[in-house]
Amino acid sequence: MSVAATPPAIGSFSLPRSLRRRPRFRMAVRSSAVPVDSILTKLKHECATPLPVLRRVADAMAADMRAGLAVDGGSDLKMILSYVDSLPTGNEKGLFYALDLGGTNFRVLRVQLGGKEERVIDTEFEQVSIPQDLMFGTSEELFDFIASRLATFAQKEGGKFHLPPGRKKEIGFTFSFPVRQTSIDSGILIKWTKGFAVSGTAGRDVVACLNDAMERQGLDMRVSALVNDTVGTLAGARYWDDDVMVAVILGTGTNACYIERKDSIPKLQGHVSASGRTIINTEWGAFSNGLPLTVFDREMDAASINPGEQIFEKTISGMYLGEIVRRVLLKMAEDGALFGSSIPEKLSMPFVLRTPDLSAMQQDNSDDLQAVGSVLYDIAGVESNLNARKIVVEVCDTIAKRGGRLAGAGIVGILQKMEEDSKGLIFGKRTVVAMDGGLYERYPQYRRYLKDAVTELLGLEMSKNVVIEHSKDGSGIGAALLAAANSKYEHSF
Ligand code: BGC
Repeated sequence: MSVAATPPAIGSFSLPRSLRRRPRFRMAVRSSAVPVDSILTKLKHECATPLPVLRRVADAMAADMRAGLAVDGGSDLKMILSYVDSLPTGNEKGLFYALDLGGTNFRVLRVQLGGKEERVIDTEFEQVSIPQDLMFGTSEELFDFIASRLATFAQKEGGKFHLPPGRKKEIGFTFSFPVRQTSIDSGILIKWTKGFAVSGTAGRDVVACLNDAMERQGLDMRVSALVNDTVGTLAGARYWDDDVMVAVILGTGTNACYIERKDSIPKLQGHVSASGRTIINTEWGAFSNGLPLTVFDREMDAASINPGEQIFEKTISGMYLGEIVRRVLLKMAEDGALFGSSIPEKLSMPFVLRTPDLSAMQQDNSDDLQAVGSVLYDIAGVESNLNARKIVVEVCDTIAKRGGRLAGAGIVGILQKMEEDSKGLIFGKRTVVAMDGGLYERYPQYRRYLKDAVTELLGLEMSKNVVIEHSKDGSGIGAALLAAANSKYEHSF
């Protein structure tokens, strides 16, 4: 049995830190002193992602995709059918709602769509952070919270937002956890990820959970589409650009989806669609083949609430990068006296160092790395000299570099698989990968490493056709567009 770490703000790439205490220390007990330099050298060596490693990962990703498409359970990648067979056309009209539950924040949004001419007439949204206790509570508590926020938001409709009389408000529900879709508007939660451990939801239809909660609130709305955040992002980006073929989320968690040809999905039986294409949610966070991992990754995994699962996610996503660095720094403090003879107590707290802290430290260009010093002091209660700060930055860079480059290799794996089946339709023309998530958005070094890896793998010429585009918060509008496409009312107005 493993012991779950239940840290504060565990799933956050963006939450503010709540508590700051005065630094406390314990004396370093060193069994055998190991120079910090040699810990760093070993770390860099084990995290290295030269071209052959990237190739191996991209090839393994493509092979795992095929295995997951062949048969359910055929690989780590679930390759989930989204039941989204037709993408937004631009003709969508009317008022639609979107709900977004995926990480530390929960969003509600309404959008008035005006068809080809007017497109998005207006949007309004509200965002709240999910209280920590709800991440570890019961299913009813979580869905009641969501439904009550939705009820309050829905009451404030006005202005340019207009619902014809007699119609129910329709919702696109973005639920960003692995769900076995049973139709466009239903799906069973397979398991929670990203530090959520809500009891009583796994194995249940999450739309039914939401419907029950809405009923308890006396809220008469209808879920017309249940979508993963990657699927919402793809739909939202595709609304503006026909070349979008793939969507990737790099935030607290990570995942990718793409447009697949029906005849390339052997496990698809009896599911027909006019378009001959569908969106596949890869759930690539569960990928694990050929990754360069260290003892720090293994120990973090063993202490997590889902040991052995989501290994790619644990290596590349925002929830975990800070924690990996913390573990390395603790080892350097304990064995190599990185911060002198005492070890700051806070450095032993799981998840005290967050990925935004790494990014903040890597943006410090000052001679004395003052901002690095402040982050270390504020967060870990660490007093540091310049040498220690330099090492800390190198550790951050090593972990961010591995993450970004592996994410890039994953993207190339998907494109490679698509290209193999469609010969020239991916690399032979402009192909857009829509990206979203706080990690991608707010960690410039990570973003650069990702793009460099894509270019290295594809070569300069071919990579010119692959456009990696930030599609900020596209998943909300995307979910609303999919609700419109699956509206129960035949005629738009
Ligand atoms: C979930 C995915 C989700 C991703 C990004 C992962 O933990 O399993 O469903 O798309 O996070 O939010």
